[in-house]
Amino acid sequence: MRKSTFMFSSWLMLSSVMLQSQAVFAADAVANIRADVANGQTIYNEGKGDATACQGCHGEKALGNDSMGAPRLANIGQIYVVKQLNEFAEGKRIAPGVGVAMNDIAKALNEQDRRDVAAYLDSFEYETEPSDLKSLAADGSKVGKPEIGKLIVTKGIKGQVPACQDCHGFSGRAPLIPAINQQKFVYLVNQLNSFRDGSRANDPAVNQFGVMRGIAKKLSDENIADIAAFLSTVTRAAP
Ligand code: HEC
Ligand code: HEC
Repeated sequence: MRKSTFMFSSWLMLSSVMLQSQAVFAADAVANIRADVANGQTIYNEGKGDATACQGCHGEKALGNDSMGAPRLANIGQIYVVKQLNEFAEGKRIAPGVGVAMNDIAKALNEQDRRDVAAYLDSFEYETEPSDLKSLAADGSKVGKPEIGKLIVTKGIKGQVPACQDCHGFSGRAPLIPAINQQKFVYLVNQLNSFRDGSRANDPAVNQFGVMRGIAKKLSDENIADIAAFLSTVTRAAP
């Protein structure tokens, strides 16, 4: 009974997110049809003006890099990527550490360039590259237990947290909800911490409250370490 209540309430939140996003992103969706993948590929590999080549940090195959805290970008969601680049350019999202470079990089790209690079990122064949949890632990990261993380992702935490999968699915849900499986461990931990402390506040609002900020507030450090350990290593078609 309880479980179905949670699934239902998160689906309600989801549909409200989708409705809002439909209006905001309808224009982008149409413009994406005209995206120039070849231009996106050139920008990704060689950069453009003040925008440094993306591959230097995100990797040749856009699978991310734990040592830099750089996320996987391949196949995470084309319109989601455009949204993030626009918000970096507008200063609505400011990242700590190496990621602080993203504001100037996004500003140096015009809107068509951002759509082109997002289309290129969506054109990759799906590949997996699990985070190396052993070496992260050896370097001092608090790595959690994937089997506990799996329970949170697929079932949620009774009475507190909806199942992540209800919204994110396995491949994300276009247009606005990114794929988080096969995302990098360090990046996942950073994002959940940033949503929790409010330093990342560009998530869509449901009833005037940021959907991911609300969820992250209910997660402990241990929950975050467990979730990131699971998501960064899960390779099967469905958790
Ligand atoms: C100097 C290293 C560096 C370069 C170069 C770089 N990035 Fe990033 N990027 C990062 C880091 C680190 C983050 C994570 C920021 C955070 O923790 O919030 C990031 C975040 C992002 C995100 C957010 C992804 C998400 O899942 O929300 C996008 C999109 C992105 N970068 C696209 C690009 C593109 C496109 C380029 C090239 C035009 C590029 N980046 C170049 C380091 C870099
Ligand atoms: C009600 C729907 C919903 C639920 C449930 C949900 N999310 Fe999200 N999540 C979102 C949306 C929407 C975004 C995109 C935020 C944005 O636009 O910046 C997001 C973004 C994220 C991001 C950032 C990804 C990136 O590439 O930067 C992470 C990490 C994340 N969610 C993890 C989780 C985890 C872990 C759970 C479960 C504990 C969860 N989410 C449950 C809707 C949801």
